[in-house]
Amino acid sequence: MPACVRLFCADRFYCLCSDGTEEKSGFTNPDFRYLFRTQLSISYLLFNMAEKDQMSVIDFHSHFLPGIDDGSRSLEESVRMLAMTQDQGVDFFVATPHFYADRDRIDDFLARREDAYRKVLGTDIAKPRILLGAEVAFFSGISRAADINRVCLAGTDILLLEMPFRTWKEEDIEEVDRLIRRRGFRVMLAHLERFLMYRENKGFIYDLMDMDTIVQVNSGSLLKWQRRGPALKLLKYKGIGLLGSDCHRSDVRVQNLGEGRAVLRKKLGDGFMDEMDRLGADLLNIRR
Ligand SMILES: [Fe+2]
Repeated sequence: MPACVRLFCADRFYCLCSDGTEEKSGFTNPDFRYLFRTQLSISYLLFNMAEKDQMSVIDFHSHFLPGIDDGSRSLEESVRMLAMTQDQGVDFFVATPHFYADRDRIDDFLARREDAYRKVLGTDIAKPRILLGAEVAFFSGISRAADINRVCLAGTDILLLEMPFRTWKEEDIEEVDRLIRRRGFRVMLAHLERFLMYRENKGFIYDLMDMDTIVQVNSGSLLKWQRRGPALKLLKYKGIGLLGSDCHRSDVRVQNLGEGRAVLRKKLGDGFMDEMDRLGADLLNIRR
């Protein structure tokens, strides 16, 4: 059932529906019709914005803040990345610079993140809503790290956790389990599909998915045919998941969330996308 916008003027009316059909009655003066159509376009735009707001598009993983990690190298590059984000239809952009506990202090990291964020906010480019977080590199003992909650996503208890790029051990999985069950974190597993490159990790990947975790897949993985199948398999196994662009630069590892979403919609359908967007909004307490 298409949604419609109707405008009335005396005994005349004009109606435009979301499927592109239109109905009109009583208009003979082209100028008047043009004026009316312009007003209608504005109404339709507002209508679309309201509908879009109900299902916000969230990029859960990015490195666009300037000069803080191996992502954007300058404010100018960050501005280019923000412009690409607009092109990809992103409403909420979660900044997740890398945090490595073995080479950084949380206070220093947060200060640098805030500084980079202020610089981006000071630009006059149109931007999505920016939320602050971190991509926290796994380390042995992370479940006992007292302040690790300070690098959760946007004031939530969600920890975007990057597992180590090596063969995993049973203790690593137990560490994640303690983060969830003892510390009460909601653990979002950053680009889980990337760890399938280690054949020995496959069983552990399914162990992690069997736990109360959130799977995050990179949109770029859905654009490469070699990675698409495995990434879709993980999402299907878990039943739901979230997307992030994991964009790093304006020239390589670019913002491609919209393209990834298009592939996911084609492969898993509108219902999956709606559920994914609903989950994302709920996790970040975004009003729908
Ligand atoms: Fe990342």
